[in-house]
Amino acid sequence: MPTDLRPDVPHPARMYDYYLGGKDNFPADRAAAEKVLALSPLVRISALANRAFLGRAVHHLAAAGIRQFIDIGTGIPTAGNTHEVAQRVHPDARVVYLDNDPIVLVHSRALLSGTTPESTAVVQADLRDPAAILRTPEVRALLDSGRPVGLLLFAVLHFIDDQDDPHGIVRTLVDALPAGSRLALSHATGDFTAPADAAKGPAVYRNASAQLTMRSREQVLRFFDGLELAEPGLVTAPLWRPDQPAQPTDAEVAFWAGVGHKP
Ligand SMILES: C[S@@+](CC[C@H](N)C(=O)[O-])C[C@H]1O[C@@H](n2cnc3c(N)ncnc32)[C@H](O)[C@@H]1O
Repeated sequence: MPTDLRPDVPHPARMYDYYLGGKDNFPADRAAAEKVLALSPLVRISALANRAFLGRAVHHLAAAGIRQFIDIGTGIPTAGNTHEVAQRVHPDARVVYLDNDPIVLVHSRALLSGTTPESTAVVQADLRDPAAILRTPEVRALLDSGRPVGLLLFAVLHFIDDQDDPHGIVRTLVDALPAGSRLALSHATGDFTAPADAAKGPAVYRNASAQLTMRSREQVLRFFDGLELAEPGLVTAPLWRPDQPAQPTDAEVAFWAGVGHKP
């Protein structure tokens, strides 16, 4: 059955694609994204900073010897996808991409049609059901190898409501990983926003197909419970092992970013 892309409903993955300068978005997505940008032009800077963090973190994990990745909340493929970064370090690196959004799946499958199916898989799954994620054959195959895994949760946990227990979800996933595995994540925050403005971003997403829950540094830090945080700890995305000199505004980019090591 053809996928219903619902072009009339603003969609977080397509809004994010628009912030990054991509072309896989519709007028409803652009209109909602422009509303968010009017509230805070920092959103685009934050999206770009988050994407750059993804590249540095995946490279860091691959350089540390990680050859298998579970990337949940993949987004519409754009420059510097996980498998491209990882396979530059280890040509045999394996990546399982999971997203709950049919449009992401359509785009991802088109992008990946050139890669060998054994090295890169795309699976439709919902982060709110981590047990089902752990049961998918593609994820099982990585875990059954017994080798450490890089679990990637970039810019996705803020789409999980408190009532869906995001910390419990991360614990379930991390518990299933072999020792030596890593958790890399980024998360939108309102920590740098004036209280009067903090609710405006989530308000725009209220009409979208997923809601936004900003979290404080302390709340995001709890995702790393039981893990050893790699230097420099939980920082704003541009300050995580930057490959160019930091700018004064980097300390207030609205994404917390970190990498943890499972002992
Ligand atoms: C902002 S994009 C992030 C893309 C990429 N990870 C990055 O950081 O560049 C968020 C993605 O999370 C996905 N997402 C949102 N809620 C989800 C859920 N409950 N389960 C799986 N994916 C979800 C969206 O479909 C979207 O593709």
